[in-house]
Amino acid sequence: MLLKTIPEWVGSVGMTHVAVVGVGAVGGVVAAGLVSTGRTEVTACVRSPLGGLRIDWPEGMTQEASVFEEFDPAQVSAVEWVVLATKAHQTAAVAPWLDRLCGAGTRVVVLQNGVEHLERVAPLVGAARVLPAVVEIGAESLRRGHVRLFDRPRITVPEDDDGAEFAALCRGSGITVALTGDFVTAAWMKLCLNVANGAVTALTMRRMPVFAQPGIAELGRALVEEARQVAAASGACLPEDLPDQIVAQLRAMPAESGSSMLWDRLAGRALEYDARNGAVVRAGARLGIPTPYNETVTALLAAVSEPDDVT
Ligand SMILES: NC(=O)c1ccc[n+]([C@@H]2O[C@H](COP(=O)([O-])OP(=O)(O)OC[C@H]3O[C@@H](n4cnc5c(N)ncnc54)[C@H](OP(=O)(O)O)[C@@H]3O)[C@@H](O)[C@H]2O)c1
Repeated sequence: MLLKTIPEWVGSVGMTHVAVVGVGAVGGVVAAGLVSTGRTEVTACVRSPLGGLRIDWPEGMTQEASVFEEFDPAQVSAVEWVVLATKAHQTAAVAPWLDRLCGAGTRVVVLQNGVEHLERVAPLVGAARVLPAVVEIGAESLRRGHVRLFDRPRITVPEDDDGAEFAALCRGSGITVALTGDFVTAAWMKLCLNVANGAVTALTMRRMPVFAQPGIAELGRALVEEARQVAAASGACLPEDLPDQIVAQLRAMPAESGSSMLWDRLAGRALEYDARNGAVVRAGARLGIPTPYNETVTALLAAVSEPDDVT
């Protein structure tokens, strides 16, 4: 089934103005979903033309959406909502966009992995408010503007006024927005998964079945256990058997599944390791919790991500 959404452009009364910065897999799904509500004007802030969005949903539906495309930060002004969906390490490079798009009433929802959304983004958005999010959008960019979704998209945000308004913004978009009174636990839970799957698949250049190897499963458990201890000291409530749960979950995944860090490594792109394993190391150092496994994989991932920096 083909679902086409072509919005009424700029200046429509009663429409909410949304700018999406980072229109890749996650940003593409959210931009198309917001257009489909009929209540938002979506501007894609991009480096090169998209030519529209096409999202292949898991049930076989194809969604097409047109978005207004901007290439120059000087051409935009403050909007009501900014959706920031670059990789975490690309955040500083989009500062010129954030500078122009953010005013006193702007909310910036950060659709990035990790637990450092506020520290990373708040310094770049002036008086705008930052809404951190946990992203459960299994999606792969097939080519520019064309995204394959593996599952129903879900985003978790804090249960406060901005979270509730983001949920209202997304109503009818096909994206489930869950509100949580314990965002710290939600964010660390996702990070505990990410410290194992991304690092191991990217370093070995192997898909999820690599976790069937006993030594790799042990490494995965050790990475998660360090993150779990740091999470607990940061106020998260996570079960003690989380390392076993996560490794079992990774072992049960389909043979073709990998991780975005694996895809980025295979494509020769920089890796989002610092917001994941690096964040565990930073928080561990602050809290006095040793994180030798995460330190080791962070050093290895830095070397493969930024080979030119290695002397
Ligand atoms: N994909 C998933 O399944 C998934 C699931 C859960 C969480 N996440 C998290 O969601 C976040 C986004 O991931 P993603 O997979 O959507 O990443 P992605 O597909 O790589 O998309 C990132 C986008 O940011 C754009 N970008 C980078 N630098 C830019 C700049 N200076 N100016 C303008 N645009 C720029 C890129 O544009 P170009 O095309 O021009 O390079 C790209 O389209 C990450 O934190 C990731 O860990 C992803």
